Amino acid sequence: MKSYDIEGRKILVVNAGECFHAYQGLCPHQDVCLDEGYFDGQLLTCHQHLWQWDIRTGDAVGLAEAPLEKYEVEVSEGEIFVVQSSALKAVDMLKDVSPASLERLEGLARREQLPAGTVIYEVDDPADDLYVLESGRVEFTIGRDDRTRLAGFMLRKGEVFGWAALLEQHPRRIARAVCHEDSVLLRLNGEAMLEALEADPTSGLMVMRRLATLVARHTTGPQNS
Ligand code: FES
Repeated sequence: MKSYDIEGRKILVVNAGECFHAYQGLCPHQDVCLDEGYFDGQLLTCHQHLWQWDIRTGDAVGLAEAPLEKYEVEVSEGEIFVVQSSALKAVDMLKDVSPASLERLEGLARREQLPAGTVIYEVDDPADDLYVLESGRVEFTIGRDDRTRLAGFMLRKGEVFGWAALLEQHPRRIARAVCHEDSVLLRLNGEAMLEALEADPTSGLMVMRRLATLVARHTTGPQNS
């Protein structure tokens, strides 16, 4: 196993004998370098608290509570290339969207690099845009003035927030979203997204089904709409 710093990210490349795999280089638990861990040919183990992952997929095994972010690897003429995929491909809500529509959505996405402390939106702001976390960490609080409370964090690439932008008559924000650390986000206008999905009703239906599940989950969980 060996780690590389690529464009500000630590990437772990693992030689699994017949092929190579590439994953995020830091443990999703507490940012420990995974190249200091153990690899037995099938399982990757973080030495700190023994979280483990299946090397073929990055899926969590045993104690681990989060999967690893996986990168595609291409080997050509003796060189190994790590290919960064779009954060949209990691979005659960867009899993069943056709390649053509996903490409259209990628064309709508604006990539924003925001320093720690940036307020992305405030309570009562219009819910025009939906966001996909590419890297970093976003914190949500609900309430006003000095009566606020933490409503949760977004941590993993592909997590979506601000999804109220996809709802009819765009409700206003019910939480405050702030970058807890330097973060990279994809920002998509809700109306433009809906237009793209209306042009592909099969994909649109799948997105709406997943959105309904997300809304149901968040009515009892973090308030990040
Ligand atoms: S830091 Fe890796 S398992 Fe805790």
